[in-house]
Amino acid sequence: DTDPGTEPGTTLPALGLPATRAAGCPFDPAPGVERALREEPVTRATLWDGSSCWLVTRHQDVRQVLGDPRFSADATRPGFPFFTAGGREVIGTDPTFLRMDDPGHARLRRMLTADFMVKKMEAMRPEVQRLTDELLDRMTEGRGAADLVAEFALPLPSLVICLLLGVPYEDHEFFQRHSGILLSLRSTREEVRAAQDELIGYLVRLADAKRDRPDDAIISRLVARGDLTSAEIAAMGRLLLIAGHETTANMTALSTLVLLRNPDQLARLREDPSLIKGAVEELLRYLTIVHNGLPRVATEDVRVGDVTVRAGEGVVCTLNTANRDEDAFPGGGGLDVGRDARRHVAFGFGIHQCLGQPLARVELQIALETLLRRLPGLRLDIPFEDVPFRHDMGIYGVHALPIAW
Ligand code: HEM
Repeated sequence: DTDPGTEPGTTLPALGLPATRAAGCPFDPAPGVERALREEPVTRATLWDGSSCWLVTRHQDVRQVLGDPRFSADATRPGFPFFTAGGREVIGTDPTFLRMDDPGHARLRRMLTADFMVKKMEAMRPEVQRLTDELLDRMTEGRGAADLVAEFALPLPSLVICLLLGVPYEDHEFFQRHSGILLSLRSTREEVRAAQDELIGYLVRLADAKRDRPDDAIISRLVARGDLTSAEIAAMGRLLLIAGHETTANMTALSTLVLLRNPDQLARLREDPSLIKGAVEELLRYLTIVHNGLPRVATEDVRVGDVTVRAGEGVVCTLNTANRDEDAFPGGGGLDVGRDARRHVAFGFGIHQCLGQPLARVELQIALETLLRRLPGLRLDIPFEDVPFRHDMGIYGVHALPIAW
């Protein structure tokens, strides 16, 4: 289906994806998807290659689709919507459970659930606090300004996921550069292919090395099971390595920035640090860094809102509109650190709901609480208009955040 016009049941012109944000509104979803939420919550959209899919924007409909096994996450199925040529290029070379349905998905995900459960992650608090303090000591020593992304927001989750996986942190430039290419909406197919091959090659060699010299981290334990190939382990390692540092890093930097732009909310949080857990949920909701939405493909005809999605049609669930849906979050267009935002879908919903969320929560709570406590004079060190937002990336955030204190 390459017709970009309207479909039965829809009246809005098809929206081009990924949709662009309005100038001057870097924390809000793109006007096109917000309009869909208001006027036609299930609507048509067009992708880079001219193909079309459905856009699902409401909180209740997003949860319906993501919770319904008739919507498949298997990217090898015809009709599956891709945001970029590069994304389609590497399908099949990287069969991670993120892009599988049950039972295949459950079989692989189950191998990791114990590693990321709440109790285990809560036990990491002292270690995360120690790393946080060390990074902040180094960042502030004898100086009054720094790039928060390069010196704090990125290294913290990167160090933690390396520890958990058993990946040497001294290789961080290598894997951070390659995950940057894989997440960029601008990378060519050739660039994505090369980055994917190098990253997988690196992790296969690492998995092989752990066969001879095991440790007690995740990759070694996957090796020790004996029922996975090095390629399967590398694919899982790649998923965890990228998901483990890019997401939390961007949430940390973007949260800091949005709090600096909302001084009343920042003051509330500073006055009452016990708000931090709820504030992190509200920041996850308000910022929704997985900003292009989650792709699925229908395996049967399914009614969603006022339309029938036909078998074989692609669907994109925009988490950022769902998280601003007035029916679920009254006044959701504003940031309110005292709000109960726990029903947000920033971590997705259903069987693929983020495996790493207990870790992300611990990291974000500690990073933000400590940063605000230790740097009472924290401020942005460049004009707001000059902040380099990640409009070009699959995970939203800022490329750099020059701050002073
Ligand atoms: C899945 C968001 C941090 C690992 C997901 C999904 C979202 C998400 C929206 C669902 C994808 C889908 O249904 O297609 C986030 C956000 C994070 C974060 C906003 C931080 C603020 C992490 C961390 C890890 C991680 C720290 C670390 C290890 C995963 C994995 C999946 C996943 C393995 C796939 C789960 C599955 O398919 O069953 N994440 N994530 N995430 N996330 Fe996260």
